[in-house]
Amino acid sequence: MLRTILLLSATAILNTGAIQCKYDGKDLENNEIIVVQNAFRVKCLTEDNGSWKTEIIGCVAPDGSEIAAGETKESGDKIHECVKSESGQVSLKESKGRLAACPGGQKNGETWQEKSFKFQCADGGVAKFIACVGQDGTVIPSGETGKIGGFEVKCEQHANGTITMQAANDPKSYQCKAKDGSMKKNGDEYVEGNFVRKCEDYGQGKIIGCYAENVSETIAINRNVTVGDVMYSCSKDGSSFSFKTYNLKA
Ligand SMILES: *[C@@H]1O[C@H](CO)[C@@H](O)[C@H](O)[C@H]1NC(C)=O
Ligand SMILES: *[C@@H]1O[C@H](CO)[C@@H](O)[C@H](O)[C@H]1NC(C)=O
Ligand SMILES: *[C@@H]1O[C@H](CO)[C@@H](O)[C@H](O)[C@H]1NC(C)=O
Ligand SMILES: *[C@@H]1O[C@H](CO)[C@@H](O)[C@H](O)[C@H]1NC(C)=O
Repeated sequence: MLRTILLLSATAILNTGAIQCKYDGKDLENNEIIVVQNAFRVKCLTEDNGSWKTEIIGCVAPDGSEIAAGETKESGDKIHECVKSESGQVSLKESKGRLAACPGGQKNGETWQEKSFKFQCADGGVAKFIACVGQDGTVIPSGETGKIGGFEVKCEQHANGTITMQAANDPKSYQCKAKDGSMKKNGDEYVEGNFVRKCEDYGQGKIIGCYAENVSETIAINRNVTVGDVMYSCSKDGSSFSFKTYNLKA
């Protein structure tokens, strides 16, 4: 008798209360799917013997679309990936999509210039360095050497990310061309008319003083040298140099 009641009551429990999963204080029916943390799809799975489990079966993108575990969805300028690890952990990863804008707001494919450097907004919203631009507007693509103002200039992005636009050759390797057509090496001093020039970096012949036939040494800038009755004057005013002789006898 007692046994029957027990059986009857047991049957009643089975009839009224199907096996349910519990998740975060909620009861779920078999095969019911809920979204938790606005990002994961959790499914309830029950067994007739009374055991149950909940399983994360996928993700939900911020726009509400479902992404199965192991899949990737690109929407707009974002990529969402529902990653399932071997240990069963599921995570939703967000990254920039191919057409994402660059940090400066430039659109995919758009080019812009910052100082002497030109960039393009590449896939994934990455600013890609593409070229150097000289003051005269000359464009030298990244990794190449071009001529700006007669000089070989190398445009380069180094492994550490630094971008440089610099002389391709040693500045001291350039020769200076004197008025008489002769070539002077870096450091050479030479006379051109009444001026003494020194060949400096990038082949720039800079005036360092004046020359007079009757004065043995170079007359320094802003100096007067008197030999006999003649005074020789070498001066610089702003960016122009002048050489004068004064006859003191007169
Ligand atoms: C119930 O059945 C499932 C699947 O057959 C099994 O994995 C589980 O161990 C069982 N649980 C119990 C308590 O018997
Ligand atoms: C980056 O690399 C270049 C070339 O190797 C070097 O000249 C420069 O100093 C480096 N810059 C930094 C910040 O490390
Ligand atoms: C140099 O000195 C000599 C002798 O005093 C003079 O005859 C000659 O004119 C001078 N040359 C110049 C360029 O002044
Ligand atoms: C050189 O002589 C000129 C003419 O007399 C004079 O004006 C100038 O101040 C002098 N310069 C120096 C550096 O003495």
